[in-house]
Amino acid sequence: MTKTENNGVMEAVISLCKRRGFIFQGSEIYGGLAGTWDYGPLGAELKENIKSLWWRRFLTSRNDMCRVDAAILMNQNVWKASGHVSGFSDPLVECKKCQHRFRADQLDATNKCPDCGGSLGEVKQFNMMFQTHVGAVQDESSVSYLRPETAQGMFVNFKNILDSLHPRLPFGMAQIGKAFRNEIAPRDFLFRAREFEQMEIEYFIRPPKDENDREWEKVFAHFVSEVKAFTSDVGLNPEKVHELEVSDGERAHYSKRTIDFEFDFPFGRNELYGLAYRTDFDLKQHSEFSKADLSYYDEETKERFTPHCIEPSFGLDRTVLAVLTDAYTEDELGGEKRIYLKLSPSVAPFKVAVFPLLRNKPQLVEKAQQIFKSIKKEIPATAFDDNGNIGKRYRRQDEIGTPFCVTIDFDTIEKNAGVTVRDRDTGKQERVTEAELVEFFKKKF
Ligand code: GAP
Repeated sequence: MTKTENNGVMEAVISLCKRRGFIFQGSEIYGGLAGTWDYGPLGAELKENIKSLWWRRFLTSRNDMCRVDAAILMNQNVWKASGHVSGFSDPLVECKKCQHRFRADQLDATNKCPDCGGSLGEVKQFNMMFQTHVGAVQDESSVSYLRPETAQGMFVNFKNILDSLHPRLPFGMAQIGKAFRNEIAPRDFLFRAREFEQMEIEYFIRPPKDENDREWEKVFAHFVSEVKAFTSDVGLNPEKVHELEVSDGERAHYSKRTIDFEFDFPFGRNELYGLAYRTDFDLKQHSEFSKADLSYYDEETKERFTPHCIEPSFGLDRTVLAVLTDAYTEDELGGEKRIYLKLSPSVAPFKVAVFPLLRNKPQLVEKAQQIFKSIKKEIPATAFDDNGNIGKRYRRQDEIGTPFCVTIDFDTIEKNAGVTVRDRDTGKQERVTEAELVEFFKKKF
């Protein structure tokens, strides 16, 4: 990764994110709010690029998926049916001395408080859903929750999709949106947050005819390879992505098979995404609790049944963290130490930055503006930068991961000698004519 030790990488990435406007602590000027993060201009661009790649792979490049955008607040019965009210909890333990609270499953066997060494109390189950009340009356009937997963917004709209789009099986619903979990111990920057974004798919298939019908495994295998393909779309090093077959006792209550896709984060290997075979659990539960008919009628076979579901679930913020930590690089260029983000052009906030060699020479600035506008027309994620000297601009663009910098100098104007294009990773410069510039970048991307 770098010459820096792994733990140093997390600190270095967090500091770069703040310094360069990627990500800030939530409510920072008030001392922050644990487990919340605000995306600044560059982080928001990076996140949008990841979302676009996801939509492209899972929605627009196929014809069996539809997009939904459900409400964050849902009827409390949704969460009773899904099992979240009774079971979406983590084991909580409190120190008898300092009253600090911890997740019991993340402590060592000494049963001592990691903060003060005091003894720990009894383990209690702590429900992670954020509860609120809808409307002016605060009683049992007005309880609602901020959704802890986007998935249920799709299951409860299953009938609406059948009635309005009449899709044929197999088909999927895809959604990107916020999810909220009152994590006992938010940690590792974006990795475990209390407010985060998910990108989820509920893919509906025919139920198996019997125990020997393994058709669902083909769909499952298809999504294993699509999830892996997505990790390369965003530029993650494939050697850092691993599949983990989740054992019987470890799986969520709704899943018959789960594969976790893990990533080598600087703090260790940990879950990036999940793929679960949710069977007909959710549709059956919602049918029972809501009394709505969530079955599917197959016109060809004249059969009525409850479809089964395969769910690839992606954490967007974990993707941002994986991308940033994977891209963070320290090296030496021209005898000087430098830090840069080796981002894939597919996710880099800016693909190209254009500068005049000197900011106080109007003819250079004017020419640079003209070239900037012509590139931007074709490659919208192009920046104009005339702050500080050229060395500082290169360092800034390297740190935000811009793959190419274009400099307009006197030869551009006086000798019609084109511009210099500098490659972020090698620092090498080459001259490219103005006429060939856009084509040059398009080939590179
Ligand atoms: N609908 C299935 C579901 O929500 P999950 O494994 O609980 O499954 C899916 O969450 C993904 O959401 C995880 O793989 C992870 O990427 C992301 N995620 C979960 N909890 C998170 C948290 N507290 N902070 C950031 N991302 C989280």
